[in-house]
Amino acid sequence: MAMVHGVQVDPAFVQAPEHRPKAAISDADGVPLIDLSPLFSGSAGDTIPATLLSEVEVACRDWGFFQVINHGVPLELLKNAEAAEKEFFTLPEEEKLKVRRDEANRFGYYESEHTKNVRDWKRIFDFVLQERLDVTGLVLKNRWPEVPVGFRETIEEYAKCVEKLAFIILELISLTLNLPPKRLNAFFEEQTTFVRLNHYPPCPYPDLALGVGHHKDSGALTVLYQDSVGGLDVKRQSDGEWVRVKPIPNSFVINVGDIIQVWSNDKYLSAEHRVSVNTERDRFSIPFFFNPASNIDVRPLPELVEDGNPGKYKEYNWGEFFKRRMDSDFKKLEVENIQIDHFKRT
Ligand code: OGA
Ligand code: NI
Repeated sequence: MAMVHGVQVDPAFVQAPEHRPKAAISDADGVPLIDLSPLFSGSAGDTIPATLLSEVEVACRDWGFFQVINHGVPLELLKNAEAAEKEFFTLPEEEKLKVRRDEANRFGYYESEHTKNVRDWKRIFDFVLQERLDVTGLVLKNRWPEVPVGFRETIEEYAKCVEKLAFIILELISLTLNLPPKRLNAFFEEQTTFVRLNHYPPCPYPDLALGVGHHKDSGALTVLYQDSVGGLDVKRQSDGEWVRVKPIPNSFVINVGDIIQVWSNDKYLSAEHRVSVNTERDRFSIPFFFNPASNIDVRPLPELVEDGNPGKYKEYNWGEFFKRRMDSDFKKLEVENIQIDHFKRT
């Protein structure tokens, strides 16, 4: 422990000076907001309006981040999931530790994640959508707590519904890449998707620590629900400034992950983001990390590669990549984390 301006500071949480959040973060010119109601209002067989596709295309191209409203996930499910999440994290530590994750199985409760080898100011609970015993050396097996009562049912129902939304976004993205809508769906038949409950407690030194350090999500795309507190920051591609993603009630934040960046051969870039914390309020969020099957080799889609535009990445195996990422989140490593940049053709 060290004392900084009269506050006890644990050095494990302290970000390097260049990564610390500035006191004032702009939420002007926020990320694009897309209304998905046209997808749900018409009768079956209606075509998707070109304006909606162009909004998705511009958002993916210029930001890699957007928010959606009228997304088809019932409001009641969002409220129930948020309530169940709060109840779980409010349990005494000894109760949560009964479902603590370990090195053999990375799913369950964890109070000590590292991003880029600095400790994050948060607690998490992770579970997979599809359990599987051994994929590339990873055990995908859930640990469900006995309390709160009904926790598992509520959270699983929420995840099922968000999965539908994830497929909808995936199909929209396919269309904006001039591909058939279901072109990418087969990659997800044996998906390694997981859902994370995040709790960011108040932090006495929010100018030094982060809830999650700067990073890009390594999967295909992320569908995130955040409460009304705010703290998610995205790095704007146009000028590299950090911008706060303003919480909008009943919305989801969508972000392009590394895999869509590779599939699209850099047409869409995975956006860098982080979570700032504050001294007063607990913050809760629920990202759904939409990940393909572990045996998928990720490479630029052949349809998007041509003579004048060769593939920018060598192929890599998703299961191996995922495992190495999980290893580095679990314990502090001495070396840099695996990144898609390592597969970039030079
Ligand atoms: C993450 C993440 C954002 C948030 O868990 O990868 O970026 O608002 N979370 O919790
Ligand atoms: Ni993230």
